[in-house]
Amino acid sequence: MSRILEPTPAAIREAALALRQGRLVAFPTETVYGLGGIATDPEAIARIYRAKNRPAHNPLIVHVADLAAAAALTALDARARAVAEAFWPGPLTLVLPRRTGCAIAANATAGHDTLAVRVPAHPVARALLRATDLPVAAPSANPSGLVSPTTAQHVAADLGEAVDIVLDGGPCPVGVESTVLDLSGPTPCILRPGGLDRETLERLVGPLAEGGDAKAPRSPGQLASHYAPRLPVRLDATSVAPDEALLAFGPRPLEGALTVRNLSPSGDPAEAARNLFAMLRELDRSGARAIAVMPIPAHGLGEAVRDRLRRAAAPRIRSA
Ligand code: TXA
Ligand code: MG
Repeated sequence: MSRILEPTPAAIREAALALRQGRLVAFPTETVYGLGGIATDPEAIARIYRAKNRPAHNPLIVHVADLAAAAALTALDARARAVAEAFWPGPLTLVLPRRTGCAIAANATAGHDTLAVRVPAHPVARALLRATDLPVAAPSANPSGLVSPTTAQHVAADLGEAVDIVLDGGPCPVGVESTVLDLSGPTPCILRPGGLDRETLERLVGPLAEGGDAKAPRSPGQLASHYAPRLPVRLDATSVAPDEALLAFGPRPLEGALTVRNLSPSGDPAEAARNLFAMLRELDRSGARAIAVMPIPAHGLGEAVRDRLRRAAAPRIRSA
């Protein structure tokens, strides 16, 4: 069984040592919990893919303590540096050209010549990265294709033995994964909407193209079905059946469902993001036939919430 530890200085030291010995540690970030392994150790990376049952062609995000550590691994031009200075630490991942001779294990990047890097803001993640003093690859700490974890209990329930230590930092304050911004080519493009909203990014970099095409994903994690609970999900519900669970949004939840969770009674997309994955998990266990979801506006973090729900509702066929 995995051990859930309070993130005391002693526990952080122990977790950093476990990482350096090639073992896996789950830790909180402001977005979701990550399943960490040392990014320069191909065996630790292989362990991450096995623990998640993740397809080998889907590369991992490498987490570092600061911009200087990111610059040692990737080629940051002036534009990338400006974006990083504005939004790191924070819920933003940058896809950048990897430096020649960069020590990241080949299996962590699935053979790509780009590298996804992130400087997280969560104090436990930052303390762990400083104590480890090596880049840490960390996908979300859930089995591939299922709902991401936003508490230490979610991680322990999902991954059990596969992870040695889970650092418990409480519920994640953002609740959806980082925004993945591709700055490796001439046109910046969002590969995955996430915890840093488009409006804020566009104020700095100008209008952003959409890259998350499910048919030919530039970000291989963006396959149609993902973030999926066990139950079928029905979007934009305007009525609900008595044997359905309702994921509501706003001050007037539909009436008549078997069970209800309200993402945000006040209609705030950021609150909806924070509640999304935990509420999907709760409704999944409600005994309902399906989960009906009320419409959610697309502004702010609403774009990421809608993206995750669209993937949760997609047909459950994993494309090749
Ligand atoms: O918030 C987050 O980003 C969390 C926390 C733990 O940091 N991590 C996370 O990792 O969501 P994961 O592995 O679940 O999602 C990483 C996404 C995938 O869609 C993957 O395909 C994409 O980033 N990605 C990684 N490296 C890439 C690269 N070189 N080029 C394009 N996409 C890449
Ligand atoms: Mg994930």
